[in-house]
Amino acid sequence: PADARREGSGPLIIGGAEVTELAQQHGTPLYVISEEDFRRRARSFRDAFGEAFAPETEVDVFYAGKAFLSTHVAGWAAEEGLCVDTASGGELAIAQAGGVDPARIGLHGNNKSDAEILRALEAGIGRIIADSLDELDRIAELAQSTGRTAPVMLRLTPGVHASTHEYIATAHEDQKFGLSLSGGRESVAWIAVQKALDAAAVDLRGLHCHIGSQIFEPTGFEVAAQKLISFLAEIRADRGVELEELDLGGGHGIAYTEADAPRDPQEIAQALAATVKQACAEHELSVPRISIEPGRAIVGPAGVTLYSVGVQKDVGVDTPDGGSTTRRYVAVDGGMSDNARGVLYDADYSAVLAGRKVEGEHTLSRIVGKHCESGDIVVRDVYLPTATERGDILAVPATGAYCHSLSSNYNYLTRPAVVAVKDGVSQVLIRRETEEDMLGRDTGFAP
Ligand code: LLP
Repeated sequence: PADARREGSGPLIIGGAEVTELAQQHGTPLYVISEEDFRRRARSFRDAFGEAFAPETEVDVFYAGKAFLSTHVAGWAAEEGLCVDTASGGELAIAQAGGVDPARIGLHGNNKSDAEILRALEAGIGRIIADSLDELDRIAELAQSTGRTAPVMLRLTPGVHASTHEYIATAHEDQKFGLSLSGGRESVAWIAVQKALDAAAVDLRGLHCHIGSQIFEPTGFEVAAQKLISFLAEIRADRGVELEELDLGGGHGIAYTEADAPRDPQEIAQALAATVKQACAEHELSVPRISIEPGRAIVGPAGVTLYSVGVQKDVGVDTPDGGSTTRRYVAVDGGMSDNARGVLYDADYSAVLAGRKVEGEHTLSRIVGKHCESGDIVVRDVYLPTATERGDILAVPATGAYCHSLSSNYNYLTRPAVVAVKDGVSQVLIRRETEEDMLGRDTGFAP
């Protein structure tokens, strides 16, 4: 987090709290979130996009709860003027329990159950993002049969795949999400628009797309926006309707290691706003209300995971220049159960010795977990002080997003607590799982 600092050779301080105290008070592994950092990033998206699109239109920033959701975090997002994007009935339940105005919640998912759709309709949520023709039909039927009108956005696949450094406008419609735009009037997207406009119980609010995640360059967002805007123009030409909203999804990248150089929200917002305004002007459309759905970029950098060092072992390894060096395996008390991103995506992280500051010699280290898999790596390569010892606290930054939310009980490790820090005070957001929690789900062998 931006508010992490050190005083002299003392421990790392996050949100005014010393990590050693946090570890002592709450145990390790521990997810720590700086509340101020979260709120500041939320505001910076809101302000950057709001200002870039003014005065033509307004922007709703939906915090993507899949990155990390708890009632507190949902409440913080709402207090900062954000809406909340949910991807299941469970996420919807947490957002509601956090007191978020249902009108400011969206529901995503490529396979929503009838129960999830009904829950959303009954709660009066702001938008259901329909992902397929089948789903659009079910939303219409369920709304009809319960005497409601469903506010619907259509998730389209604009054929743009954005990765960190490039965008390739090719066949990325070969995926489970969304309604394909290819084929013009024959396209699934076109059929969906006709159906949605013709269904009495559906209020078609607009179009949505999400082109990927951990994106640094604005170009992919811009190309997708242009495609959706020309589709809006076609819809108007055919049906005489100007849809009111355009959601450009999430995916704004963050720095996991020093090699990553993400853009500021301001830079992305300005590039995107210029493109959207120009495309709308070309098609003589008024600029629709814009929404975006950042998750990682808001909560990712606000979070740190604290671990305690356990067993260490040194092995000799060859270096690319033909020499050799020592790699130290530093095992910590968590691993792939609290951060699956290494195993899933080969994700890279960094780490620091956080409990104390040690000057002097450093050793090439690999931070590994305690699970029964050799791929259980938290940080592949990092230079840690050679004097690192058992019981030292390590901090792995940028773990606020997709770490708790992807966490598991593998090997029956208990899932760590999530604490928020602010002004030197910590508050448990989600308590540590206990052995009783785990045994509570087991019906119990009786001989
Ligand atoms: N909106 C939609 C429709 C999405 O599918 C996603 C992410 C987001 C917003 C938020 O994306 P973000 O701003 O957080 O990148 N588990 C993976 C990331 C999966 C993202 C899935 N969808 C990871 O840990 O990298």
